[in-house]
Order: sequence, then C-alpha cells, then structure tokens
Amino acid sequence: MNKSITSQFGHPRGVLGSLAGMLMAKRNHERTQFVIDQMAVTEGDTVLEVGFGPGLGIQKLFVREPNLSITGLELSKVMLRQASRRNRAQIIAGNLDLQIGDGCEMPFKDATFDLVYSVNTLHHVASLEKFAAEINRILRPNGMAVLAHQHPMKWVDAPVPGKMKKIKTVLETQGFYNSEIIQKAMKPSPTYVLKALNK
Ligand SMILES: C[S@@+](CC[C@H](N)C(=O)[O-])C[C@H]1O[C@@H](n2cnc3c(N)ncnc32)[C@H](O)[C@@H]1O
Repeated sequence: MNKSITSQFGHPRGVLGSLAGMLMAKRNHERTQFVIDQMAVTEGDTVLEVGFGPGLGIQKLFVREPNLSITGLELSKVMLRQASRRNRAQIIAGNLDLQIGDGCEMPFKDATFDLVYSVNTLHHVASLEKFAAEINRILRPNGMAVLAHQHPMKWVDAPVPGKMKKIKTVLETQGFYNSEIIQKAMKPSPTYVLKALNK
C-alpha cells in the first residue's frame, strides 16, 4: 500500500485522509464485527468509541442494539465528516453525538459511560497511561473497557501485541478486574480484543 496513505491512519487529514477513511470502511468489516460481538451492551446503555474513524463500528453497534446512546471522540475532522454521513439517521434521531477531541484528555464528566471501546488506536495515542486513566475516569463502576488491535497489513502470527499487554497491566493497576485478551484469526492478521471491568 502507498506509504503516504498508510501514514494517514493515525490522524487522517485532507484528500489522502479521506481516502484512508474509505479504505478502512471497506476493509475492516470482519475485525469490527468481531469487536462489536465481544461487547456486553444492553438497551439504554451509554457507550463511547474513541477513534471512530469512518464510523463503521458505530453503524454495526446500532444494528446489534438500536436503543443505545453512543458518543464518539476523534482527532480527525475528515473522519468526523465520514462517520456523520454513515450514521446520519442516528444523529438526527438524537442517539449519536460525534465530537472532535483526544482520548488522552476526554471532554466528559467522571462516570459517564457504561462501556468504552476503541479499535486500532492504541498504537496512535500519545500516552497509554493517560488513555487508561481517562478510560478509568469516564467509566461508571463496573463499566466495561473493550480495546482491540489488528495489524492492518501484514500477517503477525505472534503473541499478543506489546501495547495491548501494557495497557492491560496499566488498567489492572488502576483496579480494573476480570481482564482478558481474546483473539481471532483473520486476514491479514489476528485481531486481539482486551476486555476489562472497571472497579
Ligand atoms: C487506524 S484508525 C482506526 C479507525 C477505526 N477505529 C477502525 O477500526 O476502522 C485510528 C483512528 O483513531 C484516531 N485517533 C488517533 N489517536 C487518537 C486520540 N488520541 N484520540 C482520538 N482519536 C484518535 C485517528 O484519527 C484515526 O481515525
């Protein structure tokens, strides 16, 4: 894949960023569905996605459970536009609020969400410790964190990625419990999902 496009995945900008978003929406169905299937969501839950990209995860999550209140947080304005187009009906219905912001400094009050999830952002956030601390802060007691990673291009039949192990340890240090990492083989590489419950 062209290097100038791959460099866009961390913070898509401009025309190339828009192209990167279209690619993600086309290629990430299997991974995204696997992550959505791992979530314990029930009617009426408040859910946050950090780094929603083109908004495919939000779209699939509403298919699974239509009666949710979902908030999305993204660095990229280009992704905000794509995700807004993809999920327009839910925004109009008042079930979805998409915002620009940083997962390491979230603009939300303490204990706001029942579940927070994030897919392929761990290797982009500036500080895993700050990200984990923010997840801890904005989740309600017994709320669930679901953090997923898949190498987007090459086959990595390797142990769980280091950043995922690291954030698992950081979350456990903060009191998260029942943490586990599950994986599924898929192309081009396995997807790993870390699930943990807030204290
Ligand atoms: C590789 S893309 C993945 C998009 C989507 N989650 C998916 O799986 O298709 C990473 C996304 O995370 C966003 N991102 C990176 N760092 C972020 C941060 N600190 N806070 C919020 N969003 C972030 C990027 O702008 C980008 O849209």
